[in-house]
Order: sequence, then structure tokens, then C-alpha cells
Amino acid sequence: DVYGPNRRNSAGLDLSVKADRDRLAAHVAELDKLTLSAGPLVGGKLTAGAPPMPVQSPTDHGRVVGVVSEAQLPQIDQAFRLARAAQPAWDQAGGPARAEVLHAMGDALEANIERLCAILSREAGKTLPDAIAEVREAVDFCRYYAKLAQEQFGLAGEVLTGPVGEANSLRLAGRGVFVCISPWNFPLAIFTGQIAAALAAGNAVLAKPAEQTPLIAMEAVKLYHAAGLDHRLLALLPGRGETVGAALTAHEGLDGVAFTGGTDTAWRINQTLAQRQGPIVPFIAETGGLNGMFVDTTAQREQVIDDVILSAFGSAGQRCSALRLLFLPHDTAEHVIEGLKGAMDALVLGDPAQAVTDVGPVIDADAKAALDQHLVRLNREAKVLHQLTAPETGTFFAPVLAEIPTADFLEREVFGPVLHVVRYRPEDLEQVAGALAARRYGLTLGVHSRIESFAADVQRLVPAGNCYVNRSMTGAVVGVQPFGGEGLSGTGPKAGGPHALMRYAVERALSINI
Ligand code: SER
Repeated sequence: DVYGPNRRNSAGLDLSVKADRDRLAAHVAELDKLTLSAGPLVGGKLTAGAPPMPVQSPTDHGRVVGVVSEAQLPQIDQAFRLARAAQPAWDQAGGPARAEVLHAMGDALEANIERLCAILSREAGKTLPDAIAEVREAVDFCRYYAKLAQEQFGLAGEVLTGPVGEANSLRLAGRGVFVCISPWNFPLAIFTGQIAAALAAGNAVLAKPAEQTPLIAMEAVKLYHAAGLDHRLLALLPGRGETVGAALTAHEGLDGVAFTGGTDTAWRINQTLAQRQGPIVPFIAETGGLNGMFVDTTAQREQVIDDVILSAFGSAGQRCSALRLLFLPHDTAEHVIEGLKGAMDALVLGDPAQAVTDVGPVIDADAKAALDQHLVRLNREAKVLHQLTAPETGTFFAPVLAEIPTADFLEREVFGPVLHVVRYRPEDLEQVAGALAARRYGLTLGVHSRIESFAADVQRLVPAGNCYVNRSMTGAVVGVQPFGGEGLSGTGPKAGGPHALMRYAVERALSINI
């Protein structure tokens, strides 16, 4: 039952089944013969923007996946005009009608899973398991927000009690036109999810995908339109943050911004919004993390190793939820570190479109340069314990295990496959965890222990939006682990949680004297 109250999450594909692997391989081979294109899609029409630029695969710079043309100001203005005109009818249609379109979108994504995975792998360097998980998450967002639209955006509204002779009710309505700005690390799931949330709540959307991943975004917008969405309600405006993002967020026509990306960009957007005249609009931001996992001496070593490897090096460490700092007690640290080195050696680096690959490339040359620079610092000021060897093609950065003295060593998020170990004495837990909390991020937190009070202490000392005990700390599932952080990590509300649509909406109270 994918639609009703007992909805299940999307099943995806199974890489252990040969037929599924073969279909994926055929779609990758097919994609490799094509040159995709993306550009400003306004009112359903692809219009000429700036001169097209190549979109290169991070796996292999000789491979051009497609071309993209950046949106320009007249297209942005036009997109706002069309969205404004179409939004009231969409809002008035009510949650159940909007849910139908979102359900059709979820089905369309599922029906195209192989092709979408191929594009994710080539354009964003996603491994096949990650690509499959990402399509599933996109489907789940559509279905979950459809359910919230049905439950929370009924036309009648919630009936409130009041004086006899008066009928009071409260209902939610869309705000108007939302700008959605999404990241390259989940270029389908977060792109689709932000749009689904804004649409579910009754808004029109102008979507700006990350400049590195416009092609998968173009596919998603076309699927939304094919699913029955009025073309004016969703425009694609590809381009750079400093041009298209800046123009969108400064525009007088917007009623809200949903953003997922780096904390620095969130600060800039917040400033831009603060300088606009006119209505004060919500800013929904999901940003970075400096995520720690605390292990104590009661933890089960093999499980720690498995969960750390997945959390730190899965998706080449390019998740905001990824593990960055592993806190190990002095007594067992050496034993765990030896195990981690062995498990790192078993990781397969290479072409992410091959089913055997565990770690693909990082997204682009800038990302690799930043990681290279961090590695220089680790070699100079800390201790590199282990590093793998990266393939020569594309922008690969081989996983690194390093030891640092305290969390103070890291001012900000390091976005890639670098795991920092900090050894601690149990009696110093308060101080050690306090140093992490003082960084003011608050996204994910891991604990490995068989003592409940230890897990509770860690949670008290390090505020975080998502805490995972005795398991890996990435891969939040829609409707199961509502995802999002606090402090420098984001504003909430959580994606994939029951309150997700609230800031996309206004509340209207009605009192009738009867
Ligand atoms: N939602 C993802 C995760 O949980 C990160 O964006 O890993």
C-alpha cells in the first residue's frame, strides 16, 4: 500500500539480482551514447539562456554527460510571473488534489529508476547503491508529502472549540511562490523533496539545482510536468549561486526559500532576504554538520568498524550527515583503529557505475583541491594514520584516516572521505564532547555503547537533530527518521517528518457568528 495510511517506502532495485544489474548497465551504456541538455525551463518551454557549457562527469573528465545553459534575468522574471498567476488555483484545489499529482510523480520516478540511476552515477558520481537509494528517497518524499497534504491541507480545516454560537476553524494554505535551492550531493532526492514539500503545501516553485548537477534536475522537472503538474507551477532555473541564486533570493516576487547546502551560503541567503523590502518570508535551511560518534569500551568492535566505514566513507563522505569525528576511549582505540585500517583496505574505489564500487569520485576539482589542502594540514599539524590510493581519472580523493588532538582542530565541516579520530579518557567525556558542541553544528550524532546512561550523557552534551545509537549514522529514511539539524546545521523543520510542511504554509483562522 504505497498511498494509504499504511504506506510503505519505495522498494527500488536489488543489485544482488542479475536482471536488475543488467538493466542498470544497459541504461548506463545507453546514456554514454547521448549528450543530455538542461536549461531554463519556464512555463514548460526550454528557452535559450546563456551559451551552453559542458557538464563533465567527475569520474572521468573526458566524458561530457551533457550541456547546460544558465538562466538569465528575463527568464527569472517570467518564471515568477507565471508561478504567481497559477498558484492560487493550485492552493484552492486542496491537499487531496495536490496529492494525486505527487503520487503520479512518485510512480513516474519509480518507473524510470534505471535511467535516473544512470544519470546520477554519471553526472554526480554516485555509486549504484547510492543512486538506487536516492531514487527511492525521491519517491518516498513525493508519497510522504502527498500524505501530509491529504491529512493537513483538507479544504474544511481543523474545527476548534469556542463560545456557543460561534464556529471556529483553522486551516493551512500555501504561501505563494517558493524558491528551492538544492545541493549536488542529493541532486535528485533533495531537489525533488523540496519541490514536493512546497507543492504539497499549495505553493508554486522556482527551482535552482546545484550548478554541478543540472541534468538530473531537468529530468525531474520533466517528470513533474508529465505527472500532470501545471507547467507554470514549476520552473527550472539552472546556474551558479552567485548569479541565479542571488537573483532568485533578492527577487521581490518570492514568498519563501528552501535551501540545502553549505552554511556559508545559508548565511548569504539569510542576509539577502533580510535586505529585501516587503513581507518577511520563511527561510528553511538544511546545512552542514561536524558530526561525531562516541564509542565507549563496552561497544561491539566489529559493529563499530562496519558502521564507521559506512558513515565516514560511504558516498565518498559527501553527505551532510557523514561521520567526521570518531571519539575512541584510550583503552580500546588502537584495536579499533587497526580494524578500521583493514576495513578501509577492502574498499573498492573506481567507476561508480560498476556494481562492485564502494567509493566513487568527489564532485569536482574544487572539492578535491579543498580536500588535498586539508590533507596537507593533517600531515603537517596532525597524524595521518592511513590513506588509500585514488584512481588517476576524474576527481577522486582516496579515503583518509587521521588522528587529531581534539575537536578544536576542526573549525568547519570537511566535506569528503576524511575521518578524524580523537582519543579520550572516559573521565574527560564532558570536556571532550563539550569541545565538539562548541563548534555549534548540530546535525547527526553517533553513539556505540551497551550502557544506556552513556548514550544519554552524549546526547545531553552534544545537541543534534538526529542521534543514532549502535548503528550507522547516515541514510535517514523518509517518515522513519525525520532529518535535519539545529544551530549551524539548519533551521528545521525536518525533511521527511510530520511537521515538514508547516513553514511552507500560512495558517488562517476563521470565526463565524452563527
Ligand atoms: N538525509 C541524508 C542522510 O541521512 C543526508 O542528507 O544521510
